[in-house]
Amino acid sequence: MNDQATLPWQPYAVLSDSERIGRARSFRDAMGSRRSCRAFQDAPVPREVIEAAIQAAASAPNGANRQPWHFVVVSSPEAKCAIRVAAEEEERRFYEGRAGGQWLSALWPLGTGPDKPYLETAPWIIIAFAQRWGGTGEDDQEQNYYVTESVGIACGLLLATLHQAGLATLVHTPNPMRFLNRVCGRPDQEKAVMMIVTGHAAGNARIPRSALEKKPLEQITSWL
Ligand SMILES: Cc1cc2nc3c(=O)[nH]c(=O)nc-3n(C[C@H](O)[C@H](O)[C@H](O)COP(=O)(O)O)c2cc1C
Repeated sequence: MNDQATLPWQPYAVLSDSERIGRARSFRDAMGSRRSCRAFQDAPVPREVIEAAIQAAASAPNGANRQPWHFVVVSSPEAKCAIRVAAEEEERRFYEGRAGGQWLSALWPLGTGPDKPYLETAPWIIIAFAQRWGGTGEDDQEQNYYVTESVGIACGLLLATLHQAGLATLVHTPNPMRFLNRVCGRPDQEKAVMMIVTGHAAGNARIPRSALEKKPLEQITSWL
């Protein structure tokens, strides 16, 4: 550190190693119980939960602390309907061929298709936009750094918070997602990265069996 203003490090909780292991495992187990949900109730969820989840997302580490994100939170029936109509149009083209055979085969175990009723039944849709450029306007553009990585981490924290709050979630990414700029009134230079649909799972919601097949630790790690 040179001449930049600094503050003392705020110590974290003092834990024994066994407490540390216990906490890590209990968070792992909590996160491990999350599953993508594709059928929601229309039961309301307090706005405060969504606000806290977005604040958690906004605490994410990010390139040069530029915080290159904007979250559009949708709950009005009109906006949800507009999103559903536009998303299903793209999804229909996607499933009718634009995806290509390989992609469709990868999706087959999930049993997904072009109809997305949950976009209207779930109480909240949060759309994460990435800002490649910061600054205040046309003449004041500052490049942002590691934008995709930063927004991805933020969305991970958002999903983790919603899950901790007992809500079901789905990451939905109709391809392409340009229509979201129009529907959400966001500038062209922003790019929708993902929609996060959240609420309470419908009583008859089902998950694909394949979603439980996660690669074991040995397969996904190398220890040097
Ligand atoms: C970037 C991203 C995009 C996704 N897009 C969709 C989508 O458009 N539709 C969908 O039904 N699921 C989508 N998913 C959810 C995945 O299919 C799901 O996470 C995966 O099958 C694993 O299941 P799980 O979340 O229940 O563990 C997406 C997930 C991610 C991370």
